[in-house]
Amino acid sequence: MTWLITGGAGYIGAHVARAMADAGERVVALDDLSAGVPARLPEGIPLIEGSALDGGLLKRVLGEHAVTGVVHLAARKQVGESVAEPTRYYQENVGGLATLLEAVAEAGVRRFLFSSSAAVYGNPDADLITEDTPCAPLSPYGETKLAGEWLVRAAGRAHGIATVCLRYFNVAGAAAPELADTGVFNVIPMVFDRLTRDEAPRVFGDDYPTPDGTCVRDYIHVADLADAHLAAARRLAAPEATGDLTVNIGRGEGVSVRELIELIGEVTGDRRPPLVEPRRPGDAPRAVAAAGLAARELDWAARRGVREMVESAWAGWRLHHGG
Ligand SMILES: NC(=O)c1ccc[n+]([C@@H]2O[C@H](COP(=O)([O-])OP(=O)(O)OC[C@H]3O[C@@H](n4cnc5c(N)ncnc54)[C@H](O)[C@@H]3O)[C@@H](O)[C@H]2O)c1
Repeated sequence: MTWLITGGAGYIGAHVARAMADAGERVVALDDLSAGVPARLPEGIPLIEGSALDGGLLKRVLGEHAVTGVVHLAARKQVGESVAEPTRYYQENVGGLATLLEAVAEAGVRRFLFSSSAAVYGNPDADLITEDTPCAPLSPYGETKLAGEWLVRAAGRAHGIATVCLRYFNVAGAAAPELADTGVFNVIPMVFDRLTRDEAPRVFGDDYPTPDGTCVRDYIHVADLADAHLAAARRLAAPEATGDLTVNIGRGEGVSVRELIELIGEVTGDRRPPLVEPRRPGDAPRAVAAAGLAARELDWAARRGVREMVESAWAGWRLHHGG
């Protein structure tokens, strides 16, 4: 098979491209480089610079590279920005997906893997979130991921495409420092950013109904996430693959923001106590995956722990930002 990886020069996409190429899959990356970094891709993986919104380009790439499966990661991913610019998020994340699925159907590609997110669940009242927990996204970003899943499944049914939607929980860490996430949108880089500025990390709310009062999340190492894509790709590549699968990708273990900041203190050697600030609107007290379906359907489970995520993220942070 030959896999097209959209968003392949991005943080997660480059990890996925490397893991799949290392496992012997043929891989082609497409990225508009709005947030991607070409140097993340090793030599030997062709990178096509262009947009998933460009139907003509997609048709050409699918044909010229004899693509037989697509892993679609290209998207806008900032929750706050999606609140300010919902039409852009729908156009790029849902419109781009529709354009891509049209090209996929026309080219006769019959395997499709979509990057979804735990953001589809919103703020569920569940100790462990299963794939059957009702979805109620809290932002236009989360809505585009849920609408994207609907579109993927509908197109799959209409055109006989086997599909998998992976709902990632909180992605962290790096397989190598140069592959690290360079954005400051998630809690680990946000804490590093504060420490690098010689400021105390911030905790938003310590009066949640959780053991230490701070929000609890499920963190997943990006290298484990990349392995989950490989497992899903292998399932899709099976000759008898049909239908759709939607599955959580998490560790099934909760870590509180306070525990995470303590661990970051141990790893960085900067143990200054956090500043407690008011809650942010829309933060769920707890969001932890039930990880059983991924184990059963993909024969996959996370192997790396939170310390490994923090250590590898810190090595990446120091490479890109100093500190
Ligand atoms: N990082 C997380 O914690 C997380 C969690 C859940 C889901 N996701 C999803 O995973 C995917 C990858 O996220 P990431 O963290 O690697 O982000 P990223 O911004 O590093 O990667 C996205 C890549 O897609 C490219 N891109 C964006 N729009 C494009 C377009 N129209 N055409 C071609 N390329 C385009 C960007 O240049 C970038 O390289 C996204 O779909 C995101 O919503 C990420």
